[in-house]
Amino acid sequence: MADFLLVTDLDQTLIGDDKALIILNEVLEKKRQEYDIKIVYSTGRSLELYHQLNREKNLLSPDAVMTSVGTEIYFHPIKDNFDLKWANHVSENWDREAVFSVASHFADLVLQPLSEQTDFKVSYYLSKSIAQEVIPRLKADLLRQKLDTQIIYSASYALDILPKNGGKGSALQYLRKKWEIAVDKTFVCGDSGNDITLFQGEERGIIVANAKSELLQWYYQHKTPFRYLAKQAFAQGILEGLNHFGFITT
Ligand code: GLC
Ligand code: MG
Repeated sequence: MADFLLVTDLDQTLIGDDKALIILNEVLEKKRQEYDIKIVYSTGRSLELYHQLNREKNLLSPDAVMTSVGTEIYFHPIKDNFDLKWANHVSENWDREAVFSVASHFADLVLQPLSEQTDFKVSYYLSKSIAQEVIPRLKADLLRQKLDTQIIYSASYALDILPKNGGKGSALQYLRKKWEIAVDKTFVCGDSGNDITLFQGEERGIIVANAKSELLQWYYQHKTPFRYLAKQAFAQGILEGLNHFGFITT
């Protein structure tokens, strides 16, 4: 059982303003001396690209990292701490080859680099101008093959196909229950489409000011007092949100 849980996306949420990141890190380190705070990074990146970012930026050591849009979980220290239980759950009813075969018929879908094609995630680039037309067709073709998946479109360029049981939101619920942390002691932060499922429960949600249109649109359609749209961007927005929910006072 822990006191608090902070789950944050990396690119364009925690990362984006190096100075603000240092300030947020200091605040969290101080808080961590007083309380048992679990910190989780929740990213669309594969483990390989996460390691790359970790080498470039000043990140606090997390208690867990969910990579490839919540389809994989690693506990600290990452090496040798892959969560097999989560992987087994995510793999239920997932047929990667069949999904890939359906999607490869779509000429508009441009395959992302190999590092981003992981066991439970198939990823493409798709331009915004045709996304609204392509996504429903892809969904219909997958369903016709009885492939029950999630299609997630982020930042007007990235399309991920995930197993039904994967995703950042389900991974968040899994960790929150594992560590027995209440929703009002859990903070989730994000900026784009692949973060939407993080905000679907009653955890305290922080959306940074630089959020992408798909998340902003979702936020305006699902307004509640436990979701906060910050006026500031990146780590500064996270600080503002934590302040708003009374977790810190600055
Ligand atoms: C990250 C991943 C990419 C994914 C995107 C959106 O950039 O590297 O594969 O499509 O997040 O989830
Ligand atoms: Mg992001």
